[in-house]
Amino acid sequence: MIRVLLEGRGALGEWRDAARSLAGSGVAPEDIDWREKGRDADLFGEAEAHSSLPSAVSSKPLTVPPAFIALAEAVICHSDPMRFLLLYRLLWRLQADRTLLDVASDEDVARARMMEKSVRRDAHKMTAFVRFKEVGSGISLNGRRKFLAWFEPDHHIVARKAPFFQKRFNDMDWVIATPKGSAAWDGETLKLSNEACEKPDLTDPADQLWRTYYANIFNPARLKVKAMQAEMPKKYWKNLPEADLIPGMIAAAESKVLDMAKRQASEPLPFHDRLQEAARKVPAAPRSPAGTLAALREEAGGCTRCPLHSKATQTVFGEGPQDAQVMFVGEQPGDQEDLAGRPFVGPAGKVFDKVIGEAGIDRQAVYVTNAVKHFKYEPRGKRRIHQRPNMGEVTHCRWWVKLEIDLIRPKLIVAMGATALASLTDARQKLSDIRGRAIPLSEERTLFVTVHPSYLLRISDERLKAKEMARFRDDMMQVRTLMAA
Ligand code: URA
Repeated sequence: MIRVLLEGRGALGEWRDAARSLAGSGVAPEDIDWREKGRDADLFGEAEAHSSLPSAVSSKPLTVPPAFIALAEAVICHSDPMRFLLLYRLLWRLQADRTLLDVASDEDVARARMMEKSVRRDAHKMTAFVRFKEVGSGISLNGRRKFLAWFEPDHHIVARKAPFFQKRFNDMDWVIATPKGSAAWDGETLKLSNEACEKPDLTDPADQLWRTYYANIFNPARLKVKAMQAEMPKKYWKNLPEADLIPGMIAAAESKVLDMAKRQASEPLPFHDRLQEAARKVPAAPRSPAGTLAALREEAGGCTRCPLHSKATQTVFGEGPQDAQVMFVGEQPGDQEDLAGRPFVGPAGKVFDKVIGEAGIDRQAVYVTNAVKHFKYEPRGKRRIHQRPNMGEVTHCRWWVKLEIDLIRPKLIVAMGATALASLTDARQKLSDIRGRAIPLSEERTLFVTVHPSYLLRISDERLKAKEMARFRDDMMQVRTLMAA
């Protein structure tokens, strides 16, 4: 049995030299006892181990495929003491079968591949988890800052990874200390040592800042514990300043997510911005009533007394002469009135115009307005579907109706439909009970109640429609008579 003692710190050269002379002399794998300094040297004298190496006698040169070199460079870094023997066995068998490495199911090949993978992973983790801490105060004599890092690799990867750090952190002096040796860079030389290092105390005041930052950017809703553990095994974590925060953050994640969901921001209502903007610009209501119809219309143009203004295109104020004897009051502007800014110009307006014309009433001579001055609707696709104003909206808008009445002082007010009736009287009477009757409001003012023209438009039965149309015409004839009285 030939004993071979190696440093075993990830350098392929020492194993390759030994393997070359052993294989060249025809020493079979089972006749070699591979030993590692530090781990096994105490049992055997170093001299004894090396003296037993034969010098190569074979005239046939040893050859291996390039893939074996790449594999061996990784496997030699593994911390498993059996790696020397494994590599030698592969080398031995490759002499008889050069395609051996292609046989993934071969036990030796599979084992070597696993070791290679483990070394690569460890090397990757080193690039990800090495954190340099500045040591000394400020810039040194050579004008460079000095940094120290501590890392605990599984395998002998320091020499393998050191060139990466040299390239990446070329402009600073650094030392990476590990229990498996160290690497140091001073801008000129990369020094490697196999001496195990003691863990330095690298805590500093910036740690607390970093911990606070880490705790704040942690998003419990995106927590994936399994992925986190796979990417950051505990052995790497434990040297990071935030490590002891993580178990607590994971434990609290679920309740934090529930809390976040409760406090989730909601979309602002579509009219929100316009509501805010309008409220900033325009006083809620004029402090002193305007003296003219034109001034009143202008003031109503900026009305924000209720939310309806925010979705509507504009205020649709009443129109007609200020000295009109009759005031017609409808419900609220419709889609076309909202766009035109004038009352009763859409389909209901057409019915109204036709019937009052038949009754001999000149639209130009009467004042036409609505109980509510903004169009209330529900968007449905590209259409805006009319919605009846509620009592709150009617009450808010009564402010304007009252000012219109005060300015025009009509002797007759015609309420068309239930909304107009509700706006003009507090009495909760059914429209059908008082329809077609002249009701005195005061000594000089009369109220006449009839249906809304759009009611006629909604009737689908032709006979009923004709009947109701005739009734509406009769109502308008009565209005004509009351106007003349
Ligand atoms: N319906 C109303 O009540 N008023 C209008 O201006 C139009 C339709």
